[in-house]
Amino acid sequence: MNAVIHTGLFEAACAAQENAYAPYSKFPVGAAVLGESGNIYVGCNVENASYSAGTCAETSAIAAMVAAGDRKIVQICVVCKTGSWAPPCGGCRQKIRELGQVDTPVFVCNTDGRQEQFLLGDLLPSSFGPENLETTT
Ligand code: THU
Repeated sequence: MNAVIHTGLFEAACAAQENAYAPYSKFPVGAAVLGESGNIYVGCNVENASYSAGTCAETSAIAAMVAAGDRKIVQICVVCKTGSWAPPCGGCRQKIRELGQVDTPVFVCNTDGRQEQFLLGDLLPSSFGPENLETTT
């Protein structure tokens, strides 16, 4: 069953994408996270001349959510440029997993309006999460 994207989430991710700092890849990405409070947090990719020091859009949006005090990702939307699409990278999937649920919707979009919806549990099956650190014996 597909979820309906939260009002304003796609637009917030598009606005963040316009501010992306991607001089090396020329692949600007924006992300918007809906937190449990109902607030929306945005991020963009921030690249670096030392390439591996760059940050993905999802990572910066999640950091903004945590800094504001929200602790649960209800939905997340990722927007990349026209003609492309950017499902979250492996590292970002794990970061979404930390504060999301297996049924958290992940909307993957571009500025054409193309939109696909995944569930986090399908993007990262059999994953390791906070509960795995709990002692069970
Ligand atoms: N990127 C993101 O920000 N999110 C994704 O979901 C995929 C890739 C960024 C990282 C890098 O700055 C650029 O896109 C090209 O890989």
